[in-house]
Amino acid sequence: MKKLLFQFDTDFHPSVFDTVVGYDGGADHVIGHGGLTPDNIAALVEGTIFTRAPKDKKNTAIFVGGSDMAAGQALFEAVQKHFFPGFQVSVMLDSNGSNTTAAACVAKLGTSGTLLTKKAVVLAGTGPVGQRAAAMLAMEGADVTITSRQLWNAEKACEAMEKRFNVHIHAQAASDFDERAEAIKEANIVIATGATGVELLRPEHWQNNAALEMLADANATPPLGIGGIGVMDKGIDCHGKIVWGAIGFGALKLALHRACIAQLFEDNKHVLDAENIFSLAKKMA
Ligand SMILES: NC(=O)c1ccc[n+]([C@@H]2O[C@H](COP(=O)([O-])OP(=O)(O)OC[C@H]3O[C@@H](n4cnc5c(N)ncnc54)[C@H](OP(=O)(O)O)[C@@H]3O)[C@@H](O)[C@H]2O)c1
Repeated sequence: MKKLLFQFDTDFHPSVFDTVVGYDGGADHVIGHGGLTPDNIAALVEGTIFTRAPKDKKNTAIFVGGSDMAAGQALFEAVQKHFFPGFQVSVMLDSNGSNTTAAACVAKLGTSGTLLTKKAVVLAGTGPVGQRAAAMLAMEGADVTITSRQLWNAEKACEAMEKRFNVHIHAQAASDFDERAEAIKEANIVIATGATGVELLRPEHWQNNAALEMLADANATPPLGIGGIGVMDKGIDCHGKIVWGAIGFGALKLALHRACIAQLFEDNKHVLDAENIFSLAKKMA
């Protein structure tokens, strides 16, 4: 029986990245639907749950993605509301690679040193990856701050993560290089999760910071998010700090993403979100 992965995307175009990883994770067909909201998915979900016998339902799964974390979370919850006993398929949430990227990044940092009680700053942490990274750091016992160019946006991200994960995260405005350097002055850990191709720190803003122990940059597209860190760096020592580049931990992100897709087809009851994806990342790291 063919393994069918239905890609439910909150953006107009379903993510090509997620389609490719869907195939690489073991799906025989990946069927993308864009522009989905909780209000227009009923028939799509019913098509996944009513079409195969109980023993065969594990061959159908749903992947929720898109660039908006809140919209993805709402869609993920709405999908599950259409399930009832005996009629469900496995489902995964990974808006913009949020869960798999954040999980891989934080899990790799965890192999470099303890996160417990450390002061951590997630620069430009208002996107899907940054929000999830902040939540995972907080779940590991770090004291976490999210920065944004605008305080209200950082506060919105913190509130969303507090509501979802019951963790407390601080919000801070930091709109230019100097303000971001100031925001990380007392940090032990920095993760840069700014938009693709946006430089958030230059070498002089972090290399002489004595408090800093570990840094990771999620942005693989030049200019990189943290100047002075190589995109391929894998937990190497750089100016007395351990640094991880985007591809350095990106190999784990891809392996994790594929492993999660494979898991969806093992059973029809998997619900993969931040907690169990992070737990798998820590085992794989
Ligand atoms: N390494 C991997 O395996 C991997 C996998 C997936 C994604 N990524 C990367 O992870 C990063 C985060 O992804 P995402 O989807 O969460 O990002 P995103 O939503 O596109 O952007 C994150 C935040 O960046 C800030 N930002 C945007 N333009 C900016 C500018 N010109 N100057 C300063 N800040 C700016 C915005 O925050 P404010 O408006 O609040 O300031 C935005 O919320 C991206 O670089 C992406 O390419 C890496």
